[in-house]
Amino acid sequence: MGGFTVPKYRYPAQFAGGERELLDRIGEVLLRGGYVLGEEVAEFERRLAGYLGAAHTVGVNSGTDALILTLDALGIGPGDEVITVANSFHATAQAIARRGATPVYVDCRDDDFLMDLDLLPAAFTERTRAVILVHMFGKAADVPRAARLARDAGVTLVEDCAQAIGARSHGVRVGTASAAGCWSFAPSKNLAAAGDAGAVSVQDDALADRLRLLRHFGQPRQNQHDILGYNSRLDTLQALVLLHKLDRLDTWNARRATVAATYRERLAGLPLRFQDPGEEGGHVYHLFQVCTESETVRDGLLAHLTDSGIDAVVRYPVPLPRQPALAGPAADRHPCPVAEDLSRRTLCLPIRPDLDAAEIGHVCHAVTGYFTTRAG
Ligand SMILES: Cc1ncc(COP(=O)(O)O)c(C=O)c1O
Repeated sequence: MGGFTVPKYRYPAQFAGGERELLDRIGEVLLRGGYVLGEEVAEFERRLAGYLGAAHTVGVNSGTDALILTLDALGIGPGDEVITVANSFHATAQAIARRGATPVYVDCRDDDFLMDLDLLPAAFTERTRAVILVHMFGKAADVPRAARLARDAGVTLVEDCAQAIGARSHGVRVGTASAAGCWSFAPSKNLAAAGDAGAVSVQDDALADRLRLLRHFGQPRQNQHDILGYNSRLDTLQALVLLHKLDRLDTWNARRATVAATYRERLAGLPLRFQDPGEEGGHVYHLFQVCTESETVRDGLLAHLTDSGIDAVVRYPVPLPRQPALAGPAADRHPCPVAEDLSRRTLCLPIRPDLDAAEIGHVCHAVTGYFTTRAG
């Protein structure tokens, strides 16, 4: 198999057959103008809201900004605490810290790698303003339960949906049963722009209006600045790319689920375990996590896969409470041993909708080969 590689992303496959039409539309916009908040942005926002079943979506320039603007729109800032999960991508915590609020971390579960909701009630204090529930690796967390716990504590539930577009919690698309769903369309995501892009999905008209104001300098009309805002609009050209791909998202997510099922089947019997997939339709496999017995095994397997031309990665090697910029004053308030443990023992195998039989075979052969050699 010398020279055979399995990359994490293969962009041409995301356009197969449709590039000409998209390039024509991009050409039209380049010549027409309307680069900022052009009609395609409004069209994408409508289509995305329809896909999700949300009253509104507001396009912004990244998933990180979706989180920051949401916390801002909810009036969250210095002196407030926001609870999230210790094993998320750093942007979840960046947004909390960027607003001057304190991140409070709750551990994840060992089976589904999501926030352990049994631990959530103990994390509420009189300063808690919001919980950011993260649908890690594409798996929907239990939104109704988190919403109930948040409501009982008098705090707002926000969802970080960056990794889970299309996933359902109790049959309902994530990002629609809380105050706000925050989306990233960064190039690695299941629905990917050709650069940075994001959105917020909301049900509340006033919150949607506030987000629209915030993303556009806080100006209701030119030269009028009532509130401090941001320059965080979704680009018209990115909206075009996203519109072009949205119709194929469910097919791609189904294909990711098939690849995941194949991995599970072909790797069964090895000393590995996988993220609990939960309910049908509850996982869109943004990443495919495998958990090894120890850090030594994980590092050995990672090196072996890399040597075999396979783009395996660790997501994420350092839990948020141990990141100096993201720790905050409450970093040690609640121990997070499961997040610590998973950060040492997990790695992600490549997963894409277009991963073909030869690539899947190469990955499974390399993983199996690693354990066979160790046993021998
Ligand atoms: C869980 C999570 N939250 C937030 C983000 C931030 O999104 P962006 O990179 O678009 O700022 C990402 C991904 O990049 C993510 O995976």
